[in-house]
Amino acid sequence: MDIHLWKELLDPYEQAVSELLVKFRNLKEEHRKKNLYPPIESVSGRVKTVSSILEKMQSKGIAFEDLEEGVDDIAGVRIICQFVEDIATVAAHIEQRTDMEVRSRKDYLANQKKSGYRSFHMIVWYTVQTVKGPKRIQVEIQIRTMAMNFWATTEHSLQYKYKGSIPEHVAQQLTRASDAIELLDREMSQVRSEIMDAQIDSQIETNLVKDILRNIENLYRLDNKREVVKIQNEFYRIFSTHNLDELERFGKQLDIMAEGSRAQSVDTLAT
Ligand code: GTP
Ligand code: MG
Repeated sequence: MDIHLWKELLDPYEQAVSELLVKFRNLKEEHRKKNLYPPIESVSGRVKTVSSILEKMQSKGIAFEDLEEGVDDIAGVRIICQFVEDIATVAAHIEQRTDMEVRSRKDYLANQKKSGYRSFHMIVWYTVQTVKGPKRIQVEIQIRTMAMNFWATTEHSLQYKYKGSIPEHVAQQLTRASDAIELLDREMSQVRSEIMDAQIDSQIETNLVKDILRNIENLYRLDNKREVVKIQNEFYRIFSTHNLDELERFGKQLDIMAEGSRAQSVDTLAT
């Protein structure tokens, strides 16, 4: 293939990866804003390098004309979850999205690889809009926990170091480490609900404080400054107690006050 054609070939894949990063990161943000537990911890992505595409074509005997069909991971997105349970949630979410169509799945959670590798993979069809019109391409989505990712990253570095043939004793260490990772994920699942509650509480507090500060700022503009200073001091007092219920009540009172001030200022404007 002409060298200059590589860039043209890979551009839509770059576009797909950037779009999917935005979409999955937004999904996480949307959960946060709504005080819901986000099943996604972080998302990353990459487009396969030309050398690694060539290597794969050689090793699998894929011809240039079959490149885009045969190499299904030119575009890759990795979704990292906190807990094993989150993987199924993310996979189910991907299944019901209308902007991608699942072509195949590989469940290396139920069927761990011999190396010890664990992860859930999906190949999806995704359409990018280009100047030449829509282009449907394959994207590999890997979903795994932070612990699984730790293992896979380390094992990958070792594969690289030993050029694919890891010595037996190192391979054994890796299998043991993989068992330990599985145990760790299982242990973490036991405390999942507690961790989720704690995270949601802290998120609720963050969102509440944001709303309260916005209301106080608005009151500053409209109301008696001395009153507002009192309100502000009351906010600091309640915040220091970390009592979420009290903070919520205070927030609601402020909402009502802010509503009242707004009505008043509209009245003033009208007269
Ligand atoms: P590849 O030629 O590697 O793509 O194999 P495949 O097409 O049969 O797909 P497979 O599901 O085996 O692997 C897809 C991707 O998962 C790989 O490119 C790696 O990123 C990851 N992966 C699979 N197996 C392992 C493993 O044993 N160790 C690590 N670190 N990653 C793996
Ligand atoms: Mg693959």
